[in-house]
Amino acid sequence: MRSLIDITDFSVEELYDLIKTAVHISENPDLYAEKCRHKKLATLFFEPSTRTRLSFEAAMLELGGSVIGFSEASASSATKGESIADTAKIVSCYADVIAMRSPKEGAALVASMNAKVPVINAGDGGHHHPTQTLADLLTIYREKGRLDNLTVGMCGDLKYGRTVHSLIAALSRYTGIKIVLISPKELELPTFVKREIVEKSGMDYVETTSLEDALPTLDVLYMTRIQRERFDSAEEYERLKDSYVLTVEKMANAKSDMIVLHPLPRVNEISVKVDDDPRACYFKQALNGKYMRMALILKLLEEAKNPVKETYSDQYVEGFKCTNKKCVSMTERELPNLFKKTADGKYRCIYCDKEAD
Ligand code: CP
Repeated sequence: MRSLIDITDFSVEELYDLIKTAVHISENPDLYAEKCRHKKLATLFFEPSTRTRLSFEAAMLELGGSVIGFSEASASSATKGESIADTAKIVSCYADVIAMRSPKEGAALVASMNAKVPVINAGDGGHHHPTQTLADLLTIYREKGRLDNLTVGMCGDLKYGRTVHSLIAALSRYTGIKIVLISPKELELPTFVKREIVEKSGMDYVETTSLEDALPTLDVLYMTRIQRERFDSAEEYERLKDSYVLTVEKMANAKSDMIVLHPLPRVNEISVKVDDDPRACYFKQALNGKYMRMALILKLLEEAKNPVKETYSDQYVEGFKCTNKKCVSMTERELPNLFKKTADGKYRCIYCDKEAD
């Protein structure tokens, strides 16, 4: 069964097809108003959300379908100890497609291994958020007219910012992309992204702590929130929370056609005054997310008519135990500890990408 867990589950060609469909939907909404009649989307959100959940729900309603689900873990039987695997099996009886958000890294993958319907990763802890990347790609495509030959600055919490991890994975497959990683040392990109995606792909990149130095070189600036909920230490969050604030004054040093993206929510890393700058595209980005989710739902429901059975056992090895306390394997009962061998000869957990100790 085809699901979307990691943005690289889809080829560059498939992503382009989704972009084309999303643009067509945005220009011809009436043509799509009945496409999902009698189909149900389940939104299983074990973590808060405004944009992702509501845009998924709006997407399904605008396709003529229906929505069931819950918006917090406390409203589900997870509070009684039900596993993610069982939840996925049960919801497969009621819905045609599942969108799941969880604080546990790898939760959506576990759901997809157990569901009988397509599963969409709507964010798994600090790991990945592929449907945000769909919104990001459509926005870059619409605003810049291309997805290659761009210098893209990513600023803020690159350690816990799952949207950054997924966007880098997507951009690593286009030509002429240079990424400028702007963060405090403590919030640098995690190894699984830097080694496994950036360095492996040969993507051009630089790291800096200075937004001011990077700004004049950028075609796209991707601002992110410091992810308070992922910090182990409240003191460390307080120390780092105001590392970067984009202001009107700083924007004066950016290219006249640079665009500013942000997955949102924003706290104070972009001054509200920047919203009036025509280069500020983060609200358009949120709208683009709805069109891309509509295109995604259509694609997955179409492919589900002729499902291909996934096999996992051939690709993965046992014999290690994941030590990432945010990994789904820490709490999911009887979940096999599975690892994949990577190009550098190391082994990484298939659920959260943590390297074996
Ligand atoms: N961008 C994003 O994931 O926003 P929400 O947390 O509001 O869904």
